[in-house]
Amino acid sequence: MDSLLIKGGVPLHGEVQISGAKNAVLPLMAATLLTREPCVIRRVPNLSDVRFMGQILEWLGAKVESKGDTVRIQATKVKGHADYELVRQMRGSVCILGPLLARLHHAAVSLPGGCVIGARPINLHLKGLAALGAKITIEEGYVEAVSRKLTGAPMFLGGRAGSTVLGTANVMMAATLAEGVTVIESAACEPEVVDLANFLNAMGARITGAGSPTLTVVGVKELHGAEHEVIPDRIEAATYAIAAAATNGEVSLRGARPEHLHAVLDKLDEAGVEVQRRATSLLVRRRKRLNAVDVTTLPYAGFPTDVQAQFMALMTLTPGISIITERIFESRFMHVSELARLGADIEIEGPSAIIKGGRRLSGAPVMASDLRASAALVIAGLAARGTTQVNRVYHLDRGYEHMDTKLRKLGARIQRVEE
Ligand code: EPU
Repeated sequence: MDSLLIKGGVPLHGEVQISGAKNAVLPLMAATLLTREPCVIRRVPNLSDVRFMGQILEWLGAKVESKGDTVRIQATKVKGHADYELVRQMRGSVCILGPLLARLHHAAVSLPGGCVIGARPINLHLKGLAALGAKITIEEGYVEAVSRKLTGAPMFLGGRAGSTVLGTANVMMAATLAEGVTVIESAACEPEVVDLANFLNAMGARITGAGSPTLTVVGVKELHGAEHEVIPDRIEAATYAIAAAATNGEVSLRGARPEHLHAVLDKLDEAGVEVQRRATSLLVRRRKRLNAVDVTTLPYAGFPTDVQAQFMALMTLTPGISIITERIFESRFMHVSELARLGADIEIEGPSAIIKGGRRLSGAPVMASDLRASAALVIAGLAARGTTQVNRVYHLDRGYEHMDTKLRKLGARIQRVEE
């Protein structure tokens, strides 16, 4: 397993290009299952999760061709039964369920298990599909959804932590080919859902209200091929913004969309980081001592759970006490014990982490447990004195395109050690 060796203490300087959003492209790829015609998706990031989704689509019978950052997918003929092992390995792949059901009236997909960040149930996905008329059974580890026909319906998709991103995507995709009108209340408002709705509309769907909690889908008979460019990755942009702040640097984030980052930029402002918002880029600069700030993660437009770990790394470097509360995933604090290895002082109290910041971090070997925890450890390593070895880099490769190369271009002393 590869690891990253980081010699910390170098301020990041320069410009970084933000890649296409991982969490947008996975449902977009699944959406191509809704038509026999070819679809072209541009600005696709080179990530292991994306390659993996490609393999799942190929396994189902689709033709997937990649050239540079463009992927062409044609699902002329597909089967409705996904390979157990393939789907089980990546939670994002659950969003093939809705398109397969809509296209074939029958889908069997392995039930995604929990993961290190929490239980991750799919009851809301199933509730929505059932409201459209699907009969759902769970047997031998598979979710099976069958319907003679899907019929549009009103539904409420709110759960204990608010809306569900992939659940909204799954049900919205299924509803595009249902007969009649579907109204999803408490729909997820994330930019990735809007991106998917835009792609589906380009394919001939009739969706309105994406980006608001009430999403309406008027069913159509069939969808056709379309071309689409993936939105820039707001989580990647936030990660580099925080890395710039943590290292006392100055970084321009090319392609970042400030309008997708209000909550994160607001907290960076409050912490004393200088952020210049431009139409299609952001300049992040730190010139002074930072302030400790409190953060609570929430569904969009609130502070994203996917930036919680990285922000915590920044707060460990900031004098004062900050409280970070995680409201989306119950056990998304796996980075805490690893940040402690670098010298951070963090205590967990229920859903909150109390960070006594301002300590000088010093490098150590650390173990990444999930994607965003890994990013937090890289940020802490970049700011720490000495050498940090971040093990299990495959987590980072799932969701950050060429992170080590991008950081090296910004001046970081970071090396990949291949095994
Ligand atoms: N939930 C339910 N029932 C459901 C679905 C979700 O109770 O049927 C709960 C979850 O347990 C959680 C909350 O609702 O407490 C929100 O989960 P959501 O369904 O929105 O998460 P997701 O769609 O499975 C996506 C991203 C995650 C990101 C979350 C929240 C993808 C592939 N994954 O997951 O991304 O954290 O939304 O924004 O889009 C990451 O990129 O590191 C990552 C984990």
